[in-house]
Amino acid sequence: MTPESPADIRVFPDPETLSLAAAKLFVTLSREAVASRGKFPVALSGGSTPEKFYALLAAEPYRDIIDWRNVHVFWADERCVPEDDPESNFKLAYDMFLSKVPVPGANVHRVKGELGPARASGEYEAELRRFFGPPETPSFDFIVLGAGEDGHTASLFPGSSSVAEKAALAVPVYPGAAKLDRVTLTLPVLNNAGHVLFLVTGRAKADIVAKILGPGKNKERYPAGLVRPVRGRLSWFLDKEAAAKIVRSS
Ligand code: 6PG
Repeated sequence: MTPESPADIRVFPDPETLSLAAAKLFVTLSREAVASRGKFPVALSGGSTPEKFYALLAAEPYRDIIDWRNVHVFWADERCVPEDDPESNFKLAYDMFLSKVPVPGANVHRVKGELGPARASGEYEAELRRFFGPPETPSFDFIVLGAGEDGHTASLFPGSSSVAEKAALAVPVYPGAAKLDRVTLTLPVLNNAGHVLFLVTGRAKADIVAKILGPGKNKERYPAGLVRPVRGRLSWFLDKEAAAKIVRSS
């Protein structure tokens, strides 16, 4: 991390306590944002790690203490599948909490993955411009990210041209035959957020976490290591297993 933007690295005993802390952070940040700006734009990720966190948002006490009318939900990335496909990041969030809380439908700004990467990213860029207003880079109050074992985050994969994108807010991603085509927010948007939270759990992530957060060099070769908000905060919430190679276990 650069000295200007040190990451707040927290290690939790298990994914449950990590998810609780993420839900509490959602409450705190949403209250601050709604009190000062009247709305709370947040961008979510897919993957399996945030499931427990999303489920908590629809459970007591969180469901009732969040001002859902002013929460605006976007996605950090989406797979190019219909909205009811099991691979859809929208579906994950919808099933886990959006269908269970009183967030207005108009506040849910999904990526229309079913349109294919080029059209879906174009429409998403237009939606971001409409909501945040041109010409500034959108500033989300909260972006929740995961990290892959290869160091990808959102759908920014190592070596992909999307990682170097400076102008577009959202771009199409064609990761190759083994993976679904996608749409992702770009680094300028991720790095303009008020608070970026990485949720990373499990032993399989211990190596990449140590490479990105440990003392070594070359963190920039991993897209997740390039997420360093220019004016906001950066948090990495890890469980003990994911942190095993950067901290001594007790
Ligand atoms: C996606 C993501 C992606 C994810 C990581 C971690 O749609 O796949 O947004 O970047 O966050 O791959 O995924 P896990 O939580 O499943 O490990």
